[in-house]
Amino acid sequence: MKRLGEVRVTKANVKHAELVAPHGGTLINRIAEGQYRERLLARAESLPRLELTPRSLADLECIATGVYSPLVGFMEEADYRSVLFNMRLANGLPWTIPISLSVDEAFAAKLRLDAEIALTWKGQVLAVMTVTDIYRPDKGAEARKVYLTEDLAHPGVAALFASGPVYLGGPIWLVNPIPHKDFLTYRLTPAETRAEFARRGWRTVVAFQTRNPIHRAHEYLQKVALEMVDGLFVNPLVGATKADDVPADVRMRTYEVILSKYYPSKRVLLGVFPAAMRYAGPREAVLHAIARKNYGCTHFIVGRDHAGVGNYYGTYDAQKIFDEFAPEELGITPLKFEHAFYCKACGQMATTKTCPHGSEARVHLSGTKVREMLRRGEMPPPEFTRPEVAEILIRAYRDSKLAPPAYPA
Ligand code: ADX
Repeated sequence: MKRLGEVRVTKANVKHAELVAPHGGTLINRIAEGQYRERLLARAESLPRLELTPRSLADLECIATGVYSPLVGFMEEADYRSVLFNMRLANGLPWTIPISLSVDEAFAAKLRLDAEIALTWKGQVLAVMTVTDIYRPDKGAEARKVYLTEDLAHPGVAALFASGPVYLGGPIWLVNPIPHKDFLTYRLTPAETRAEFARRGWRTVVAFQTRNPIHRAHEYLQKVALEMVDGLFVNPLVGATKADDVPADVRMRTYEVILSKYYPSKRVLLGVFPAAMRYAGPREAVLHAIARKNYGCTHFIVGRDHAGVGNYYGTYDAQKIFDEFAPEELGITPLKFEHAFYCKACGQMATTKTCPHGSEARVHLSGTKVREMLRRGEMPPPEFTRPEVAEILIRAYRDSKLAPPAYPA
């Protein structure tokens, strides 16, 4: 059951909704319906079956529902190479991360061009794909271009090299819903968020990407942005993350409690982002922004080390990369924030842009330190994490739901 209820779209708010065109101009919907779906389902019975990984399943969902508009399938080699080397699709549209489907040699050997295959999850057919390209990626080049490193200690690079050596490109049709069991009320498609933004009459909407529990710095960024736009779309990523990231269900509980107590409900919408995390820093920040444009957002928050991991990227590289595109070709405005902290002298959250005091006045805790405190059952300072969030995290550590960190924060 969707929480949104009936969405009434009037002439006036349709106009607002149209203010943000999807990337490439058309909101993609590759969810087969009616007789077309029936026919595909019947054909799928006799097709070669490819069992998806959690990552490719997430990509499939993002393609089918239009989160990755204008993609209608997994990338062919021309798009793949253009994305790697030019940060654009072959048609020139900005795109920074390959959306590819990898398979092993044995599966690839069975295929010929224009063959159809059935994409399955736990044995159930979810989609039919027409294989219009079969190619061998240069994973070393992909790692260097996308992740700026070939280090296998980088979780995105490790996932890349663990995937099959052959990529398949071609359009997909979803024939069965992705069988989600969690966050059902928060699983909104771009068509649904656009309708909801329109219903609320929001002309400008800022999106917030996160893979972490909500901390005071996040709240500061969101609220500063919300002072300037009509609505806030909090969009936590719930696809695959690395083992030591806080699990999505725990993170979502922190969002539910904080939004219900400290945010004006009329001006905030919470919806999950089904993509997997790549930890590609700058390039992933641009993909994150494009996806949020497809959800109907006009602005996107990019703070310190967005989508980063370890020390692979400079603190503000994920902001600088936006300068490589003309604003109109991205079509969503990045709101760039410096490192935010609580300043005891100012008595409030701030950044070096707004606070003249030195680091001695700041409440600064590393992610590692905070996790150590939480594991011991200690509350971090409320200027860093609200007690409601700390309680949820302490309980999660107690129930052994959180793994020890593999990376410093
Ligand atoms: S991310 O991988 O999704 O980027 P995270 O959930 O930690 O990780 O961050 C969500 C967003 O908040 C990102 O844009 C990030 O840059 C920003 N951010 C997180 N902490 C801070 C901070 N202390 N100061 C400024 N920006 C921050």
